[in-house]
Amino acid sequence: MTITTDLWHHFGRTRAERDRTVPRAFHWLWSQEGGPGSEILGDLTGKVIGDLGAGAARQAAHLATHQAPARVDAVDASPAQHAMATDLFGHLAPRLRIVRSDAVKHLRTTAGTYDVLYSVFGAVDFTDPRELLPVVAAGLRPGGLLAFSTLAHYLGGAPAESDVVPADIPAKTPDGEATTMRRWVLQEHLWTKVLDESGFTQIDVNVLPPAVEGPRSAATLLVTAVCQA
Ligand SMILES: C[S@@+](CC[C@H](N)C(=O)[O-])C[C@H]1O[C@@H](n2cnc3c(N)ncnc32)[C@H](O)[C@@H]1O
Repeated sequence: MTITTDLWHHFGRTRAERDRTVPRAFHWLWSQEGGPGSEILGDLTGKVIGDLGAGAARQAAHLATHQAPARVDAVDASPAQHAMATDLFGHLAPRLRIVRSDAVKHLRTTAGTYDVLYSVFGAVDFTDPRELLPVVAAGLRPGGLLAFSTLAHYLGGAPAESDVVPADIPAKTPDGEATTMRRWVLQEHLWTKVLDESGFTQIDVNVLPPAVEGPRSAATLLVTAVCQA
């Protein structure tokens, strides 16, 4: 049996202790303030939506509450994030469904289900795009939309990769030991190439500058693409 350490144990924990509210706005930017919002996803009325790497499901809770989708599935592989999301927003069922699963595994069992799939610095950042994006295309209905935000460069300013390769970035185990995890920080043209190879069309990549400059600020790539009919 393989036991995987949950490297997302600490993420969002401090905020969850003091803020249990459904966010009033949806943000794509790394800073989680300002910039475009859920209008990027189009009219969500009656649509089936999936958040890939939803974390505490704050964005998914926002859509379930402030829009009128048929359902939002907040998918996350981390047991800690799943527990946090269930504690914070479990009461929004059945419109919000909190799913503990790896995104690739989940999408392999849900072919043709979704009208819209999105990721806010979520599964798209931390999963090999050549493995994930083809199953994202399969999970969408023909003509369905994928939107994701990801880092335009590394935190600290180093440029994005010029090949489809991950970097080992610092992470912490649940008991606080330093370790690493893989993150894909890719140049714009590489996202376009892998999306094209994965069955997407109408690929659009926008670079959004940080709302506020600071040592941990970063530009965001906001990418949208349509699943080929
Ligand atoms: C930086 S957090 C972002 C969470 C949330 N989207 C937000 O904006 O707060 C990344 C999340 O992606 C999840 N994740 C990474 N790879 C995943 C995968 N292959 N399948 C499902 N979840 C994944 C992690 O467990 C983590 O909760």
